[in-house]
Amino acid sequence: MAETHTMKYMPGFGNDFETEALPNALPQGMNSPQKCEYGLYAEQLSGTAFTAPRGQNERSWCYRIRPSVKHTGKFQKIGMPYWKSAPCIDEDIISLGQYRWDPIPYSEHETNFISGMRTITTAGDVNTQVGMATHIYIATKSMVNEYFYSADSEILVVPQEGRLRFATELGIIDIEPKEIAILPRGLVYRVEVLEGPARGFVCENYGQKFDLPNRGPIGANCLANPRDFKTPVAAFEDKDVASKVTVKWCGQFHETMINHSPLDVVAWHGNYAPCKYDLRTFSPVGSILFDHPDPSIFTVLTAPSGIEGTANIDFVLFRERWMVAENTFRPPWYHKNIMSELMGNIYGVYDAKPDGFIPGGISLHNMMLPHGPDAPAFEHASNDKLIAEKLDNTMSFMFETRFPQHLTPFSALEAPLQSTYQNCWDAIEKKFDGTPGTK
Ligand SMILES: [Fe+2]
Repeated sequence: MAETHTMKYMPGFGNDFETEALPNALPQGMNSPQKCEYGLYAEQLSGTAFTAPRGQNERSWCYRIRPSVKHTGKFQKIGMPYWKSAPCIDEDIISLGQYRWDPIPYSEHETNFISGMRTITTAGDVNTQVGMATHIYIATKSMVNEYFYSADSEILVVPQEGRLRFATELGIIDIEPKEIAILPRGLVYRVEVLEGPARGFVCENYGQKFDLPNRGPIGANCLANPRDFKTPVAAFEDKDVASKVTVKWCGQFHETMINHSPLDVVAWHGNYAPCKYDLRTFSPVGSILFDHPDPSIFTVLTAPSGIEGTANIDFVLFRERWMVAENTFRPPWYHKNIMSELMGNIYGVYDAKPDGFIPGGISLHNMMLPHGPDAPAFEHASNDKLIAEKLDNTMSFMFETRFPQHLTPFSALEAPLQSTYQNCWDAIEKKFDGTPGTK
């Protein structure tokens, strides 16, 4: 039995990486030698169609102790009642409305990252690979000799409490709040709770992979910079022990038993790999004279939908920043969008909702449903003296999709939904009486 525990990362977003956990395990100058070093098996993991254009084509070559065909046996379907996939539309549940939840509490029963997944919304269709689902994970225990992969989705993890280790086929990623991890479709991993209990948000992307947004006139720098994304170096387990692999495939869950660890990639090269990103390295760009730009200015990652500029998912970050705009209503304005917005609070206070949207909390503003600052936030921002002000102690994010988001039975009926959320706009007054000069 041998294991490696190298905790190192390689910088860059979507680079063509190469890494080996044992010397000379990686073939040079070719992908598939007649015989690989150490008796390893060569295998390609493709994240895109073979013929996808060069700029989008993603695949990695793995040199592993056993080929992946040895990492599954006969599949058995299992129930995972809290992890839903789109379309999941319950005719008794009303998704039309502005919704907000308190943090999802931990279960009385121990849960791991997979069994503790609670779906909040689904959008699109997992079978046609469009749309997404949003989840909260509540994890109190590590997966031991248990592994998982999702054939359905790329998974974006946003921790809010606790620390997690993703031991993946391609290396080890540790994350904590203020960091995120991206696990590509098809990648096998085990999740350990390094510090628990662990809770956080997940965006399950059924469509094209997350990419960095174009910066347009912003130029070559700021927002999320590629070098701040970190991909792990190769790490493997040579462990012959009864193990369980759970597979999410077309919205259904399957289990298969094997007699060894599937995390047996000794060396790999390619551009299809997991990564982590520290949200504190996001350099926000904003208004420096007047008006409030569209929130797209804070996009960290975008997953295209096929319609240019209309994302399947945007991952948008509202972090600490200076507010300096003059003669301007500084919080987000009132609005009604075609996009559907699910927000989560990682820590601190969100400027448009100073009360009620607390760390671990979630809000949903669905397609063509108006929303905006609550009454106290409006009054404060309309009357406050506009000095340069640091918005400190704040980190919230948004999973925004072009598809309407549907509540699940869990989020509508079991989760701590705030029944009075819509009242936050009750105190907004009519100020108009036709008199010129009234403000
Ligand atoms: Fe909004």
